[in-house]
Amino acid sequence: MSVRYRNFQPVDTDALLVLWEKARGAGFEPVYSLAEVLASCNSDHAIVAYEDHAILGIAVGRVAHEQGWVVLLAVDDSHRGKGIGGRLLGELEIDMAKSGITKLSMLVSDNGQSGVLEKSGFQNFKHLKYFEREVSVSERERELLKNLGGRVLARDLWDKIAGMKNEKELLERRLVLPLADSKLAEEFGVEPPRAIVLFGPPGTGKTTFAKAVASRLDWPFIEFFPSRLGEDSNGVAGGLRDVFTAVNELENVVVFIDEVEEIASKRKGDPPSPTQGVTNELLKLIPNFREKPGRLLVVATNYIRALDDAFLRHGRFDYVIPIGLPDAEARHSIWARYIPSSAEGTIDLDELVVRSAGFSPADIEYAARKASQRALEQSVYESKGATKNSSTTKTEHYLWAIGDTRQTVSDEDIEEFGQDIERLGRL
Ligand SMILES: Nc1ncnc2c1ncn2[C@@H]1O[C@H](COP(=O)(O)OP(=O)(O)O)[C@@H](O)[C@H]1O
Ligand SMILES: [Mg+2]
Repeated sequence: MSVRYRNFQPVDTDALLVLWEKARGAGFEPVYSLAEVLASCNSDHAIVAYEDHAILGIAVGRVAHEQGWVVLLAVDDSHRGKGIGGRLLGELEIDMAKSGITKLSMLVSDNGQSGVLEKSGFQNFKHLKYFEREVSVSERERELLKNLGGRVLARDLWDKIAGMKNEKELLERRLVLPLADSKLAEEFGVEPPRAIVLFGPPGTGKTTFAKAVASRLDWPFIEFFPSRLGEDSNGVAGGLRDVFTAVNELENVVVFIDEVEEIASKRKGDPPSPTQGVTNELLKLIPNFREKPGRLLVVATNYIRALDDAFLRHGRFDYVIPIGLPDAEARHSIWARYIPSSAEGTIDLDELVVRSAGFSPADIEYAARKASQRALEQSVYESKGATKNSSTTKTEHYLWAIGDTRQTVSDEDIEEFGQDIERLGRL
């Protein structure tokens, strides 16, 4: 009997699976998934080699405009070295040429089938590397996100957070680690968090961290402000419900509620305040939200002590995390982040760090901008002839800006924050 070749037929599927499994066993690293290969078998191009009724090999291809791609080439171990692979490629090429391809390519792993390819006239581009990434949000989800005002954030937000080492490390460990690798978490019996509170004085980076976590996880981010959901309490409660219902449709998402004290402050006396209905609605929605994995609710507040006690009770939020003022090291990084590269190395950063004690990241950002603006104006309008001013921002500009910037967070705020951490923080 001699080996013969024909087009793939659905009855060959079992044989394909066997070849696939054997190849896997022998250390073959597929570039295309089995699902992709099966899809191509059924709707693109596929050739099998057979003898009697046994399938000995298979080549599968897919056309992308003028370029054809071999998505699988597999020959049974017991029939290697008989030229079956080369012949399969040849037959596949003939079949695919009908679709108008001018080039046939194949991606193989480092330890892959380069021998048969080179013998079959394929050129090995040694300098090429293969990269891939997953598309994080499907087209349907994109539509939904758009309606919710959500979006997929840039991927580098996490790295852009300057300093704040302790906060970053805490969030990395408690949130990112179990959420990004829920399988691993499960092996250790860790239930990934579903909801957290970030609290701290204004401008310390709560919003920044919420976004950075989404960016780090590569999950879409939906932010909403209670104050913008509607004037009457029915509108707000309804708005909340709508958001949480719609979010159910997303595979992964970070939902962020900023200024949550607006809708979840302490219940006050009789008659109940108009926001009471909204607080109750949110309290009802959270347990539902917690049921499905792959999602994280982050709420942020500047006034945690104003929040309803029921809101913070165990079972709703996994962590209640303080985000405080940056220490010296963090201020150093934050300053460095806002100093233009033209001035790098010429600024007395240590002095800025000392002088800006008590500044929030937002205060530093503000002062840095002010310094740059001042330096720009001086350079353009105040330089005279030979005594031309420096063409970049200098330490003196920064010191002036620091002196001219009021720190947002008062000593009293800091003291209260300390008490809040003691009483309400949960790490
Ligand atoms: N660690 C940081 N590094 C650099 N800039 C920061 C950092 N944290 C906050 N900022 C900047 O400070 C400003 C206020 O931060 P934000 O996250 O809105 O604070 P919050 O939500 O706590 O009020 C933003 O413009 C942000 O870009
Ligand atoms: Mg904020």
